[in-house]
Amino acid sequence: MSEVRVAVLGASGWMGKVHTMAYQTFPHFFGVSDGTARIVALVEGRSKAAGDLSHRAPGARILDWNLAVADPDVDLIDICLPDHLHYQVAKAALLAGKHVYCEKPLANTAAEARELADIAREKGVITRVGHAFPRNPVHDLAKDIIQSGEIGEIKLFRGCQHVDMYGDPNAPFMWRADGKLAPTGIVGDTGSHIFSFMDFLVGRVSSLIADNLIVTPRRPAVEGLAYGEQVELTGNESWADITNPDATNLLCRFENGAGGIVDFSRVATGRKFMQTYEIYGTKGSIAYSYDEINRLRFYSNDDRTGRRGFREIDVGPENPTFRAFLPLPNFGLGYNESKIIEVAEVIRSIVAGKPMWPTFDTGHHICQIVDACMESSRQKRWVDIPLG
Ligand SMILES: NC(=O)c1ccc[n+]([C@@H]2O[C@H](COP(=O)([O-])OP(=O)(O)OC[C@H]3O[C@@H](n4cnc5c(N)ncnc54)[C@H](O)[C@@H]3O)[C@@H](O)[C@H]2O)c1
Repeated sequence: MSEVRVAVLGASGWMGKVHTMAYQTFPHFFGVSDGTARIVALVEGRSKAAGDLSHRAPGARILDWNLAVADPDVDLIDICLPDHLHYQVAKAALLAGKHVYCEKPLANTAAEARELADIAREKGVITRVGHAFPRNPVHDLAKDIIQSGEIGEIKLFRGCQHVDMYGDPNAPFMWRADGKLAPTGIVGDTGSHIFSFMDFLVGRVSSLIADNLIVTPRRPAVEGLAYGEQVELTGNESWADITNPDATNLLCRFENGAGGIVDFSRVATGRKFMQTYEIYGTKGSIAYSYDEINRLRFYSNDDRTGRRGFREIDVGPENPTFRAFLPLPNFGLGYNESKIIEVAEVIRSIVAGKPMWPTFDTGHHICQIVDACMESSRQKRWVDIPLG
């Protein structure tokens, strides 16, 4: 058994809490034979939130991020910081020879992501991007159906992700809407989730045309608000300009010839969290909706005429990852379990010295798609995505 010593950066944010929990939890489900993790350092900038850190990971030192990346007693730097810090912190960690696990989007541009992936290769370290949604075992089932040829050649992908975080025009401004702190807005934030499903299930994107929209141009500014926190407005707030996209509609082509239709937004009033994909092939189709998070719908032309229709398949304990959590079907795995699976894979790949999807190379391709959306929308035309 090998132990990986971890520093979690942004430890009191949403992802920081989930990752910290996942390191402490995964051995209950996956055992310790593929490696264990010990949180040796926590990094958090908000002084109000930093107070409880010592209770959440007893024994961990509380450091600034530049000390954590240089610390010889840290093996893995886990970046749960806002997007604009990913590149700078990941680069420093890679140059110090650390393994790096970075939340999505990997970087603000594909050029930055390429540089990070290249440094990682030179240094021979393990990298991982936090695209956890496709790690729910139901998507392994989808991949297995695709790879076994059961839906034939893929012709069309449809995907979407919508939330109503900003459905209300008075919902307060936060870093996610600030073009300086999150230059690609909803494209890197939410689009990157759908792009990760596309990469996992269909393949690389070769070209696209996108239309980015800013739906609500100004929002009340409230200091220190975390994601999901509600606040009563006093009427005395200053107003901040929204400087990155709220919503995107796009068409794309995959390298394998399939076409794609994708849309995502943070302004879909009433849609608390909507995430779907449908993949149509020459012999059948699959369809998924986050509302039924463990269920896949599968249609096959092999069924006899008069009996054809989508059948529901719930991923269950016949899948070893599902069985690690639950011995019975239909009890349901949720978002936090996907993160526990992801963290277990990060530790396993470091101990085994074997990269696992999605690495920084995957993160680079996803950043290429994000870049292409920004350029296409600006220039109002199709944009090609280069290989590599
Ligand atoms: N994979 C997913 O499903 C998923 C979901 C949500 C967020 N994310 C990504 O995770 C990252 C963090 O998002 P979040 O929702 O947890 O944000 P958050 O705002 O809740 O957390 C960020 C944390 O970083 C801290 N921080 C900011 N600057 C710092 C600095 N210089 N030094 C130390 N700490 C600092 C903040 O105080 C905060 O606690 C983002 O890149 C986001 O895109 C991924």
